[in-house]
Amino acid sequence: MKVIVKNIAELVQVEEVIKEKVSGKEMKNLSTLKDAFLCMEDGLITDFGFMCNLTEIEEQSNLKVIDAKGGMVFPTWIDAHSHLVFGGTRELEFVDRINGLTYQEIANRGGGILNSAEKLANTSEEKLYASASKRLIELIKMGTGALEIKSGYGLSTESELKMLRVIKRLKENFPITIKATFLGAHAVPLKYKNNKKEYLKLIAEEMIPLVAKDNLADYIDVFCEKGYFSVADMEYIVNASKAYDLIPKVHVNQFNSIGGIPAAVKLDALSVDHLEVMNPKDIDALKGTRTMPTLLPSCSFFLKIPYAPARKMIDQGLPVALATDYNPGSTPSGNMNFVLSLACIQMNMNPEEAINAATINAAYAMGISKTEGSIAKGKKGNIFITNKIPSYSFIPYNFGHNCIERVFINGIEFDR
Ligand code: NIG
Ligand code: FE
Repeated sequence: MKVIVKNIAELVQVEEVIKEKVSGKEMKNLSTLKDAFLCMEDGLITDFGFMCNLTEIEEQSNLKVIDAKGGMVFPTWIDAHSHLVFGGTRELEFVDRINGLTYQEIANRGGGILNSAEKLANTSEEKLYASASKRLIELIKMGTGALEIKSGYGLSTESELKMLRVIKRLKENFPITIKATFLGAHAVPLKYKNNKKEYLKLIAEEMIPLVAKDNLADYIDVFCEKGYFSVADMEYIVNASKAYDLIPKVHVNQFNSIGGIPAAVKLDALSVDHLEVMNPKDIDALKGTRTMPTLLPSCSFFLKIPYAPARKMIDQGLPVALATDYNPGSTPSGNMNFVLSLACIQMNMNPEEAINAATINAAYAMGISKTEGSIAKGKKGNIFITNKIPSYSFIPYNFGHNCIERVFINGIEFDR
């Protein structure tokens, strides 16, 4: 099937030469074509150009013409960090925080991740799949065309595998690219409260081999933070997963800078995520490396914690990616459009930088920048069409509103 999208006011994030990511000053460059058309065939982008060069469209039985009606076309957003699969929401903790408790205080009294682990253990695989599917449909309609999803609310072999099987089922039943990350080291479960070493051993010697045996994960993650897992714990888990080809993508520097970034870079992590608390050494450690700093501003918004110093990082030549961190505790929102607004409003990123961070750099952080993350010939036909907006900056500017009218994944309209 061939699809031609015509009457596009502006085609955004056009790439003639495919790049794997953009860093520093380059992040300010965003190529676009005004008054454009786009062709997709067999799921891939095959052509694009100016409307005036679109030769008359002949009626063909296997050709579909879509009129963008003066809306803009973007490559779909790529969300490289989420915890989409969970057993229940945590709005009671939200109310506790309004009444003065901190996120860490709630966690210390058995709430937080442990609360989610209890809910997950008591929810069937079927129910988990149904609720995650519902959320995923909502995200795709808001423009997300690729998503990373973590386990980490299981914290037992049985429940971690259950979560990962749900993610596998999502991969099989949805057209978008989904990557699965094993996050057994998200929190120390109550049972191992006084014996973290034993839990680490369980992850390394039992969980990781089982996860790998059934091919349930692409990446390995550890919550490297005071009160959770130390740098040495992270090194132990990542090293244990090396034999199984799990690539590290890790939670670091959310509340404290404890050396997780230089250690993750040494472990050749694909990404380091959160980075709300950064010292100059952490920024230096990322320079000239293959590790993508992935920032999660809606977590800062919801928890009222500092925002990652995106401006400083970009000004010092680093690339950054943006993601939602969608989860029931620290970020109950998976809206990438809102993430872009926060990136611009709270982190002083320019709209061009935010768009690059949410497309090509986010694709890099999911290992898919060769096939997704921009409008380029040969890349996947993953696009969204907006309503009539005056410029691409309008998306982050018009925060909290939806400008997206139609979403196409692999060249086919998503209409669930
Ligand atoms: O990325 N920081 C660690 N994990 C999640 C939140 C976990 C939770 O509160 O459920 C995050 O913010
Ligand atoms: Fe997270």
